[in-house]
Amino acid sequence: MCGVFAISSADINNAGEKVIEGLKKLEYRGYDSWGVATSHEMKKEVGKISCATVVFKEDSKAIGHSRWATHGGVTSENSHPHTYKTVTLVHNGIFENYLSAKNRLLQKGEKFLSDTDSEVIAHLIQEQLDLSHTPETAIQNVSQSITGRFSIVVMIEGVEEIFVARRGSPLIIGRGKGELSKTTFIASDIPAFLEYTNVVNYIDDDEMAIISNESVQFYNLLSGEEIEKRNIEVSWKEEVADKGDYNHFMIKEIFDQKQSLMSAINHTEEEIQEFISVLQSGNGVYMVACGTAHKACIAAEYYFSQIAGRKINVVPASEMPAFERFINNKTVLFAVSQSGETADILEVLEFGKKRGAKVISITNVESSSIARISQNHLPLRAGKEKAVASTKATTSQMALLLLLAYADNNRLNEGRLVLQSLASSVNDLLNPRYEEYIKSVAETLHDCRNIFIIGRNSLFPMALESAIKIMEVSYIHAQGFAAGEMKHGPIALIEKGTPCIVLGCDSETISNAMELKSRGAKIIGVSNKNNILFDQWLKIPSAGTAISIASLLPIQILSYYLATLRGLNPDMPRNLAKSVTVK
Ligand code: G6P
Repeated sequence: MCGVFAISSADINNAGEKVIEGLKKLEYRGYDSWGVATSHEMKKEVGKISCATVVFKEDSKAIGHSRWATHGGVTSENSHPHTYKTVTLVHNGIFENYLSAKNRLLQKGEKFLSDTDSEVIAHLIQEQLDLSHTPETAIQNVSQSITGRFSIVVMIEGVEEIFVARRGSPLIIGRGKGELSKTTFIASDIPAFLEYTNVVNYIDDDEMAIISNESVQFYNLLSGEEIEKRNIEVSWKEEVADKGDYNHFMIKEIFDQKQSLMSAINHTEEEIQEFISVLQSGNGVYMVACGTAHKACIAAEYYFSQIAGRKINVVPASEMPAFERFINNKTVLFAVSQSGETADILEVLEFGKKRGAKVISITNVESSSIARISQNHLPLRAGKEKAVASTKATTSQMALLLLLAYADNNRLNEGRLVLQSLASSVNDLLNPRYEEYIKSVAETLHDCRNIFIIGRNSLFPMALESAIKIMEVSYIHAQGFAAGEMKHGPIALIEKGTPCIVLGCDSETISNAMELKSRGAKIIGVSNKNNILFDQWLKIPSAGTAISIASLLPIQILSYYLATLRGLNPDMPRNLAKSVTVK
């Protein structure tokens, strides 16, 4: 989380403004507050950088940050950059052992202006400079004393170069070309500078770079040895984040599913077979993911069990340490992620690699850290997903996972037919009339306090995902349950009029819906057939084994309207970020 962007240039003199523009493209990484420092000025503000219009004095060097708060509240003091004497820096990640370092520095009489872990790094670097170390040695020494994942970008008063270091949190160098051949960009993600260059160097873990107007030099952060880096041309085109006629990215991305489902399953037979052969080569497959992607993985657990007869272990990446003893050189770790940067997943994969496990992944962002450390990777090709709440990337994950389950059972073509038929029905379903109807249902629900969702089989994880979607954008408390589990506790919460969304209309789910209705629940059915029990009905196409994917579409639209009818911006819900690069 947190967006970092910096420019060092001999070609331009408005680096401050350019850093602001680049940071706006990284806002999905955090939008609590922002700050930019040039060689002579510092501007920081609480709030979203997308609303900022700032003018800087001429300068050819600037570093900036868009924050998702970890240590310390959302205040301008806690916003980056942080400065101590000659050192100014921005930081992404968590400095886990910062308190002991801070206490030591406090005892020395140093004063801190913020509550952040990041400010302590500035003090530590200054301490090293005061001991007459060069900036590179200072940064090396400090980096070695830090535990946790981090990336830092450092300016030092009176020193021309910018210094960067990484362990765990992403950092990419963009190499200016043409009129900008003496310009270097440093960012947590490529979109920040893609309008200027597609030539990049990836900084890997425990590496640092020294950036001057003339050159970029790379070093091993631990040994100090110089490293050669290839210039890599990324094939990304700058995808203009354009809402078109839509009011928000979330609803645009929901409608993008008219095309994205097809793109997700368009991999060649060879690509799919290669991926599956790695999956089959293991003796135990662990799927690791977070948030919504984790719910897509639980759906995949059902797909693989029922279609391929394979047991997959699905574990939220943050819980994986409890199962580490089972990871060895026979294990396949299968990561699923939209961003490909989620810290909890990366940590599991790095651990797994050390144990000799095979790492495979599917991500939407093709050049992501997860994609790059995987032995085999399939892209989702859903197109840029900008709204914080995942919609099209989720259904693409599920479509590709379903296809892989078919391929695992030598029925790739059958899987393609199921999914092509789903994609075509989704294309018909997503139309303004359908949207209007769901909006009218949202109008009856938007002031309720709780919503419960139930589903069975692969619709159980969809009940969990529906709850996430509703909660994260509308702030209505929502909870999903396996349909049969409602009566084991949660049913105590049902009162007259409590909205319960019922995914599916098989006889057992309907019996569970009946139990809820008998206690006064208002039943909103999501299924291909109407049922007398339903007070409201959200129709979906018949989709066979892909029913879980079809069921999400009306829920996504419903969540969107629950948010907008409550006057909320569904694209940037409070306290959340799109890419979670801290543990
Ligand atoms: C954040 C996002 C979620 C996402 C989760 C995992 O919490 O808000 O939408 O599901 O991270 O992210 P990933 O990029 O790994 O799919």
